[in-house]
Amino acid sequence: MEDRGFDLENRLATLEENELKRTLSPVDRVAERGYFAQPCGSELPVLDSEEALVFASNNYLGLTDDQRVQNAARRAAATVGTGSGASRLVTGDTMVHRDVERLLAETKGAERALTFSSGYAANVGTITALEPDVIFSDELNHASLVDGCRLADCETVTYDHCDPDSLRAEMAARAQRAEASTDSRSGSKATPDGETESWLIVTDSVFSMDGTVAPLSEICDLAEEFGAWVMVDEAHATGLYVDGGGVVQAEGLEDRIHVQMGTLSKALASQGGYVAGSDDLIACLVNEARSFGFSTGLAPPAAAAASEALHLARHSDARERLWENVTHLRDGLETMGWDVPGESQILPIVVGDRRDALALEAALRDRNVVAPAIRPPTVPDGECRLRIAPMATHDQADVVACLEAIRAASEEVGLL
Ligand SMILES: Cc1ncc(COP(=O)(O)O)c(C=O)c1O
Repeated sequence: MEDRGFDLENRLATLEENELKRTLSPVDRVAERGYFAQPCGSELPVLDSEEALVFASNNYLGLTDDQRVQNAARRAAATVGTGSGASRLVTGDTMVHRDVERLLAETKGAERALTFSSGYAANVGTITALEPDVIFSDELNHASLVDGCRLADCETVTYDHCDPDSLRAEMAARAQRAEASTDSRSGSKATPDGETESWLIVTDSVFSMDGTVAPLSEICDLAEEFGAWVMVDEAHATGLYVDGGGVVQAEGLEDRIHVQMGTLSKALASQGGYVAGSDDLIACLVNEARSFGFSTGLAPPAAAAASEALHLARHSDARERLWENVTHLRDGLETMGWDVPGESQILPIVVGDRRDALALEAALRDRNVVAPAIRPPTVPDGECRLRIAPMATHDQADVVACLEAIRAASEEVGLL
């Protein structure tokens, strides 16, 4: 009989050969330092005897370890329950969901917010529910936005990374094409049914692997010129900018951006995603986002932890401490000779070759600093890197130790 199964062994061997195979290294806790185990497959992990500094987490404000956030999760588990038990549309809609959504809406300057069980689900569910005819997508957008575009089954036009001129050229070309193909009908930008096409511009605000920040104001100008909507993914910005908001708040663009998306899983130290926008947008998502309706509601302890973390992001000095560490690290890396692109808390060290990236990761790990190599498909081949991300809870000595380890490791590997 013919084998109609899947040759996984061969696939894994190819990944291994190309230095692209991933493994899992468990850690004892989620914080700025921890005891890691070597990758062990299905065997029981054995934790290293030495503690390592973590400089690659998205737990930017270090709030996973904060007693107040942990207590909020404990209280929600005890009073509401450990899980939602059903979709929010059935019986899974609780007071803690409403609490975090109210606070998110206030922070994001929106009429209403809606939480999803992950940021991935928020992106895929929102883009598909909107059913755009054409999406204009930054070429480096996160995989969950890319997958949302694929699932939406519409025309997706990519534009050059953070380049408003490229976006303008793509929109102008698309408008011209639509006009030419519908010249018997009135107006430009028409669908085969003669209706005006719906256009959605989609971009990360802070790009997670590059540390770059999207030119949101110029993107809004273009959206207004061409009549499109804008959706911004603030996964790596939420909680870090003015009053606990994202780049949209830092630039005062709330009224010009139609869909503000983000996650609860990074600076907000929890799990889940959210969308903030108009009452109508949220009502539409409640009804039509399949990843919302056909998925169990966010777990109540996650909602409560995110709510407390957002409160702390707004009202504590955690943001200030994070940005001090970012400045210290960026200055140190640049003084050392590394060119650090971007203008956010994410500090990429781009080494190019995947073997060099893996060697640098290993040399850092030998010095008890954890910053995994980032390889394809996360970044393009030839642009492999370490992605250094400090946290608010690192102290000055931690940052100095990280810089010393990077210098010694880079020299050992021959990169400096
Ligand atoms: C830019 C961006 N958007 C969305 C997501 C997905 O968020 P979540 O991890 O909550 O599913 C991530 C996280 O990996 C991300 O980096």
